[in-house]
Amino acid sequence: MFHVTRRYEFPASHRLHSSQLSDDENSRLYGKCNNPYGHGHNYIVEVSVRGPLDPVSGRAVDSRLLDELVKREVLERFGHTDLNADVNFATVVPTSENLAAQICSLLKRNWSTVFPGEWPRLEKIRIAETPRNIFAIRADEIE
Ligand code: NI
Repeated sequence: MFHVTRRYEFPASHRLHSSQLSDDENSRLYGKCNNPYGHGHNYIVEVSVRGPLDPVSGRAVDSRLLDELVKREVLERFGHTDLNADVNFATVVPTSENLAAQICSLLKRNWSTVFPGEWPRLEKIRIAETPRNIFAIRADEIE
């Protein structure tokens, strides 16, 4: 069994603000990340899959198919956008934890459109918001 990871990148802006908290609480909780004008990141997304080696191609995953899926479901959807305005963040704060969970869920939901067989399977999503802030979620931990 092989574990393969591909790395992608997209820029987006966000503001950390919970509608369930007061302005003061938001400011205390999120600090500068709560400023009303938002701020941007170059998010680095790593998509990890696992699968057995295909004896004909000598590969565990067709990276072109994976790129297609990630481009369609992640890069074109979130790239150069205000994450707070995205329907995926209508009810949850666009933290990188929630972004990783949404990306994982979108890929999982659409996985069989490009990979209809048993393998490869989506394993993990990892997002670096900055070089010091890195978040990961396993595909089997979410619906
Ligand atoms: Ni931020």
